[in-house]
Amino acid sequence: MPRNGDIGSLTPAHPAAPAPPRLLELHRPNADAMRAELLAGLAAPTATIAPKYFYDPLGARLFAAITELPEYYPTRTEASIFAAHLPAIADAYGLPGCTLIDLGAGNCEKAARLFPALRPAAYVALDIAVEYLTTSLECLQREFPSMKILGVGTDFTRSLALPDEVTHARRLFFYPGSSIGNFTPAEALAFLQRVRAAMAGDGALLIGVDLVKDARVLEAAYDDALGVTAAFNLNVLNHVNHLIGADFHTADWRHVAFYDPEQQRIEMHLQAHQAVTVRFNGGARRFARGERIHTENSYKYTPAQFAAVLRDAGFQAQHHWTDERDWFALFLASAQ
Ligand code: AVI
Repeated sequence: MPRNGDIGSLTPAHPAAPAPPRLLELHRPNADAMRAELLAGLAAPTATIAPKYFYDPLGARLFAAITELPEYYPTRTEASIFAAHLPAIADAYGLPGCTLIDLGAGNCEKAARLFPALRPAAYVALDIAVEYLTTSLECLQREFPSMKILGVGTDFTRSLALPDEVTHARRLFFYPGSSIGNFTPAEALAFLQRVRAAMAGDGALLIGVDLVKDARVLEAAYDDALGVTAAFNLNVLNHVNHLIGADFHTADWRHVAFYDPEQQRIEMHLQAHQAVTVRFNGGARRFARGERIHTENSYKYTPAQFAAVLRDAGFQAQHHWTDERDWFALFLASAQ
């Protein structure tokens, strides 16, 4: 019998094939909670839609396209830091043999690039829905037959509870891509404190952080010439239509992105071209011409600021590596 929440595994097609990875569903997105959150955001004085709603199937594809844009430097800059420093990263704090816990694993590509240097004993991929992980994990298990691989569907921003089988080995949490910047600084600190607590005294965190830089570079990265980021931002309205039966028309809105140097953040908004009334199950809202819906913040840090956040979260030791332009940093922070 499958365990409670265990969505099971396939019988190996061939006796020599490795057993497929185990997949667990610890948390399913709750439709009522999402509805309540969206309605509250649309009723707020400055309307908001949380950035997690960007990622419907089309939004996930648009984000993948963003990472390939010439203007969107974070993904390729982070990859260049790994390419230059992976052996040093793996050697710091004796990481080989750890259990690698991937926060928001998606297609697991970034973590897989670490395997040759890190040689993890086990790989635990966390994502909001376990079905996003199935195919990638099956491929990885074929490539690394002796590695223990586990996929977990969970909202790790709310809970870092892990199955018992991953509690004993030394844990390396992996949070690449500068997603930490999509939290407010207070939320980022609280999240890092939870990660630190989930290490049970021993363990480390490898995290990507986008750095403060020239506003023109930042603004181009979030308002590219091809309009892919605009499409990504506007597509959230289609997703909201689907989730709460709203009648947003993307043609009524335009993408706005700018850097606020005081708050050290890119802000993304959708701005109404004309006055418009949007109806949805449970209400309606009139937007004046020029009124905005705030859809995302992306905070940027200096290395010193992020080092201080890690210290405040309780990490005892840390190293960081940057690219030659100091545009992006990879931090490795140890619990002890
Ligand atoms: C996922 N996250 C780190 C991206 C960022 O850069 O804040 C999301 C994004 N929004 C627009 N472009 C990319």
